[in-house]
Amino acid sequence: MIIAPSLLAADFVRIAHETRRVEKAGADWLHLDIMDGHFVPNISFGPQLVKTIRPLTKMFFDVHLMCSQPDILLEPFANAGADQMNVHVELGEQVASLFMKIRSLGRKVGLAINPPTAMAAVQPYLDRIDELLIMTVNPGFGGQGFIHETLPKIQQASAWRRDLKLHFRIGVDGGITYATAPECARAGADAFISGTGLFTQRSLKGAVAKMRKLVVKNALANGTAPLPSMAAAVPAV
Ligand code: DX5
Ligand code: ZN
Repeated sequence: MIIAPSLLAADFVRIAHETRRVEKAGADWLHLDIMDGHFVPNISFGPQLVKTIRPLTKMFFDVHLMCSQPDILLEPFANAGADQMNVHVELGEQVASLFMKIRSLGRKVGLAINPPTAMAAVQPYLDRIDELLIMTVNPGFGGQGFIHETLPKIQQASAWRRDLKLHFRIGVDGGITYATAPECARAGADAFISGTGLFTQRSLKGAVAKMRKLVVKNALANGTAPLPSMAAAVPAV
């Protein structure tokens, strides 16, 4: 089980302190949200910030590219110290070549899917990815409410992974809290990206431990969960 705090919810005035705090809290990955003001209606930060914090920690850097042209950003983020780069399936025919570029840079490959996009879109890529990142909010902002209609997509991903004997991680991203993480764990998720849900707790260490305990406990119920047929698209909200 991977617990991945999202740096977007950290205190940016004290970014070095916050980076070290995430590692000391016992988190597995640091999730880094890259927004370009075009693929999503917000701008976050770029490779320079990732490079700046890279020497502060040994944590696995999970870079989430919410960007229309990730091809021009893969090399800069690889050089800045990304361990895994997630690109969006909504980019269409670019996706296969983006994967090849990420692999050629020696990094792990993640594929992200937005709530309104049907799971059929990711199916052709499942044997080529290390992580399927199921967006449980519409990307662009932290602090949004979890979209429950995405839960069948997690179950679908879990069923495909089992049936095809694949090993990609199933990440969930957006609105992940003590209440929603267990639901995702029961559906088959095993990487939990959480910004507001973790950073608003008084002790980040306590919060990471609590979320880990909850998802481990609830994952045990996963094997008995009923499996739906292919999840339908979820309307945008
Ligand atoms: C949403 C980002 C998320 C975000 C999660 O666009 O991709 O990673 O940081 O934040 P919370 O947990 O606050 O929804
Ligand atoms: Zn993200």
